Amino acid sequence: MPPFPIDQVRALFPAIARPAQPPVFLDNAAGTQVPQSVIDAVADAMAQGACNLGGRFSGSRRAMDIWDAAHQAGADIVGAPSPRGVIIGASMTALTLHISRSIGRLCQPGDEIVVTRMDHEGDVAPWLLMAQDRGLTVRWVPFDTQSWQLEPQALRAVMSPRTRLVAMNYASNLTGSINDMAALVRVVHEFGALAYVDAVQLTPHHLPDVQAIDCDFLVCSAYKFFGPHLGVLWGRESVLETLEAYKCRCASDDLPERFESGTPQTELLAGLAATADYIASLGDMTGHSGSRRERMLGGYAAARAHETPLALRLIAGIAAIPGTTIHGITNPNRIGERVPTVSFTHDTIPTHAFAQALADQEIFVWSGHNYALEPVRQLGLSEATGVVRLAIAHYNTADDVERALAALAAVAG
Ligand SMILES: Cc1ncc(COP(=O)(O)O)c(C=O)c1O
Repeated sequence: MPPFPIDQVRALFPAIARPAQPPVFLDNAAGTQVPQSVIDAVADAMAQGACNLGGRFSGSRRAMDIWDAAHQAGADIVGAPSPRGVIIGASMTALTLHISRSIGRLCQPGDEIVVTRMDHEGDVAPWLLMAQDRGLTVRWVPFDTQSWQLEPQALRAVMSPRTRLVAMNYASNLTGSINDMAALVRVVHEFGALAYVDAVQLTPHHLPDVQAIDCDFLVCSAYKFFGPHLGVLWGRESVLETLEAYKCRCASDDLPERFESGTPQTELLAGLAATADYIASLGDMTGHSGSRRERMLGGYAAARAHETPLALRLIAGIAAIPGTTIHGITNPNRIGERVPTVSFTHDTIPTHAFAQALADQEIFVWSGHNYALEPVRQLGLSEATGVVRLAIAHYNTADDVERALAALAAVAG
């Protein structure tokens, strides 16, 4: 594989390329930067005539083409067999809150659902609300603090013939762990339940493959993988067809439209298609060819080859600061089982002191619970202060990591 063209890549991102001294973006797990091609696609969709869908005139037909292309992009991103199962909405959380109302209608009082101690609130709170509305029992799976993963046997221990749904994250926004999703989904299906997978933190680094892991639903957020502020939910068509949509009476009953309430954000849809093309262009730049999905897979493989040494250095550098504890996989031999999102606490120094010191040097990192309330609780950390989280994306450099490490070390004295 040719070396990752980091300078060429960084030149594509105005937030990085334009300022004389760009900030160090290490808050990528909260949201990524956007390449010019995506920004142009959003602006063009508005400049060319922002029309609604379903009209007879050319502007409306153009909006329909944008809508089609966005759903095809969603299908390529998650590996879906067809765009019919791709539902696009405001965010992962909004989509999950919306579809949970329909899934709740499949459940009877006394049925059970399973949520995890590893998940972000966006994949916990909607299911707790659904359970409250429908009189369901909630079972919890903890993560293993040795392996830092959701273990299939721990999931099996809370499953029962009454389990209707299991909601679990593919990769954690706090520990960075990647779960063995195919193995977990097999357990869910042994009990005849539905598997709802939150792939928000996986998708900036790996393309999910809904057919390979055999899940029933998978959700991700484009603004975490270099795109606009949109969420993408894929559902197995045979399951979506059984769900009653919460929708306006005159809205379409077709898939996926019946789950996409209101007027689509056409300009952002244009940005989503351009985002898939951007990831595929990483494949082109690194010698990959084939379908868009194949080029995206190649591009991400090249991006990971660039990110991995940065993640190893970040982990080693934080671990070398006396008093720190990294909450996640640190064994270099297991680096492939995590995304490059690294969270830590210090024995005596509060998390915000690190985040503030880095902010003062234009190094962007987050401190707090990061909406990973359950992981923070399972780890016995303070909900008020949480962790310091540094998250690498493919446009980061070794220099970014060194600057962050030097600033962290200075705080620790
Ligand atoms: C793992 C995970 N799930 C869900 C979400 C929520 O995504 P959204 O902001 O699109 O609702 C996030 C956001 O940080 C996340 O990290």
